[in-house]
Amino acid sequence: MDQVNGSVVNEFLLLGLAQSLGMQVFLFLFFSLFYAGIILGNLFIMFTVIFDSHLHSPMYILLANLSFIDLGLSSTTVPRMISDLFSDCKIISFHSCMIQMFFIHVMGGVEMILLIAMAYDRYTAICRPLHYLTIMNLKMCMLLVMTAWIIGVIHAVSQFVFVINLPFCGPKNVGSFYCDFPRVIKLACMDTYRLEFVVTANSGFISMGTFFFLIVSYIFILITVRQHSSKDLSKAFITLSAHITVVVLFFVPCMFLYVWPFPTKSMDTFFAIVDFVVTPVLNPAIYTLRNRDMKAAMRRLSRQVVISSSYEGGRWNDENEVY
Ligand SMILES: *[C@@H]1O[C@H](CO)[C@@H](O)[C@H](O)[C@H]1NC(C)=O
Repeated sequence: MDQVNGSVVNEFLLLGLAQSLGMQVFLFLFFSLFYAGIILGNLFIMFTVIFDSHLHSPMYILLANLSFIDLGLSSTTVPRMISDLFSDCKIISFHSCMIQMFFIHVMGGVEMILLIAMAYDRYTAICRPLHYLTIMNLKMCMLLVMTAWIIGVIHAVSQFVFVINLPFCGPKNVGSFYCDFPRVIKLACMDTYRLEFVVTANSGFISMGTFFFLIVSYIFILITVRQHSSKDLSKAFITLSAHITVVVLFFVPCMFLYVWPFPTKSMDTFFAIVDFVVTPVLNPAIYTLRNRDMKAAMRRLSRQVVISSSYEGGRWNDENEVY
């Protein structure tokens, strides 16, 4: 590397996921199918929310932002995973490796704050309903999204600055199918004990703390919902259980990837696949299939598409329609 003094390594080796051809074909189909689902599902949520004025509320705008981040997060690793499956020599350049790590942590950081923002939105709606419209307006929503991006970038940069200057001179094998801080740091030819602690604290303890904070918040909201037994109860339960599922699916793999002191390759691979491939495809499914407003919006949208394609110049407006 030109900018890194004394370092001779300018590429790393990634781990192969499958040895046998049968397994390679199976994983190829599995990842391709899921990645297609991730792209279609999340784009679908984003377009539905953007084009349906019924869904221009903070809850759905945050959801659309989460979809965007899910799409981004899986795009940092999944296309590379798919293209690496059949190649014998899984070399990744130093630069690509650094870029991959950086974006994984920007996206991961944004997703983490967005999940907090979504919990805060539900807390306000359920526990302080009279103040909801004054607290959670579109301005607040924009503020939350901007904060999420700023924190995401700070989170990534604060680990990146240490790693970019590390001397890499010997081992090249990352031991995983993607580049991430904990694995890449171990390849540096110096004592990285302190740095490993920085990464564990920054990615691991923060995700662990956020996870417990969110779970406690949702338990608090659920208790509040139970106290005001109204007809909104079941709707709130459905929404909250969807949020809790997403929180568990996102944070449990994170905690295992960054905090678990005895990592094994198979466990790493399993949790990374959950975080990059399974969770991003489940989010759209969980939110759309269990949400009445989302389903109504989907019906409206498909009707609009049918109408506008069958009548030339058909109006895109069914605001007064009864559904
Ligand atoms: C994300 O949030 C911002 C700010 O509220 C909003 O303007 C934008 O449309 C959202 N993004 C998507 C993809 O919906």
